[in-house]
Amino acid sequence: MPTLLARSPITPAVTRPEGVRVHRIPRVVGADVPVPLRDGGHVPYANFDYAASAPCLEAVQEAVTRALPYYSSVHRGAGYASQVTTGAYEEARETVRSFLGAWRRSAVVFTRNTTDSMNLLARAVPAGTSVVVFETEHHASLLPWRRAVRLPAPATPAEAVSAADRALRACPIGSRLLVVTAASNVTGELWPIEELARVAHRHGARIAVDAAQLVPHRPLDMTAFGLDYVAFSGHKLYAPFGAGVLAGRADWLRAAEPYLKGGGASASVGATTRWAAAAEQRHEAGSPNVLGAIALAAACDTLSASWKDLAAREEVLVERLRTGLSALPHVRELSLWDGRAPRVGIVSFTVDGWNARDVALTLSEEHGIGVRDGRFCAHPFVRHLAGGDTAVRASLGIGTSEEHIDRLLTALAELAAR
Ligand code: ALA
Repeated sequence: MPTLLARSPITPAVTRPEGVRVHRIPRVVGADVPVPLRDGGHVPYANFDYAASAPCLEAVQEAVTRALPYYSSVHRGAGYASQVTTGAYEEARETVRSFLGAWRRSAVVFTRNTTDSMNLLARAVPAGTSVVVFETEHHASLLPWRRAVRLPAPATPAEAVSAADRALRACPIGSRLLVVTAASNVTGELWPIEELARVAHRHGARIAVDAAQLVPHRPLDMTAFGLDYVAFSGHKLYAPFGAGVLAGRADWLRAAEPYLKGGGASASVGATTRWAAAAEQRHEAGSPNVLGAIALAAACDTLSASWKDLAAREEVLVERLRTGLSALPHVRELSLWDGRAPRVGIVSFTVDGWNARDVALTLSEEHGIGVRDGRFCAHPFVRHLAGGDTAVRASLGIGTSEEHIDRLLTALAELAAR
């Protein structure tokens, strides 16, 4: 039987930031796609919107192309193509498990995206669970809970840990869940998830981590970090085929009502229905998104093979961007913590005298640069950082080059002159 998840070679780097020995960087589809400018010209797109949706990795595109000739039903057919496709789907689950360092017995449920994963978890928490969440979260982690204690933005990572400690201690007896991001989708800052996991466990609570913005940039080890649940999205992980993941402890998921009711989630149906016992089957009703799962697994494999080079390269690029922004007197970077706090390649800022939408449109129409503007589905957090203002966000990834950074800095410098 063919192995649909066969590793594809990592192609050589196209760009090389100064001072970093980058040997092997994967490539993204459309890295140099030309985009039109207002003056009628064209330039290669400078994509700074990775935190919203990252472009597809070539290795992901190849994995999907390899899978398509065998595309068939999953868990439902005896035919050869069904067997190949079912094998690839379950193999993808194991690839994701190892990418996350998840326990052998934990559930790895394929969902649509992080929002879907957090909503699934919110449905599965036992009735009466006390949920604690910071107001700095992305809406995917802030909104799904029936009731949650909302903690204000902490002034330091240490204060985040002590605020969680106090809030969890004050929770009534019963199950408790702390929900927190691993890396902010607004500032890129890394949250102290290992310490937060220790605090949660000290109070008999579980911790659910929104890893959507971490795993495209850094490895995560659920077992080593002591994380009970992790959610992330394929479309931010260079695998834009509609799959996401919720991984973690299986007991609550096994006991919960199926997230969707239908074929696949049921073990037997008569006058009454007996639902599948395994968490994955129970919560993956209907024909699953097998191409999404294969794409996601290919992205996990590709990133796992390149972490060292990717992280080193990204650090140089982020430093170049942040140093350049700090030299522009009319630009103010948004940070929750000390500017030296570790972060991934996500930088949000405001531009004096300009509203964020106009900055974003000008960058696009005059320079071929794609950024996101607004409050980034993190309204309370951006209000905390920017008051009534909206902001501009530049987020980087595998296809970002020094030329892109310099183009963005030059364009922002020009705005001041208007
Ligand atoms: N969650 C995505 C973002 O931060 C869409 O842009």
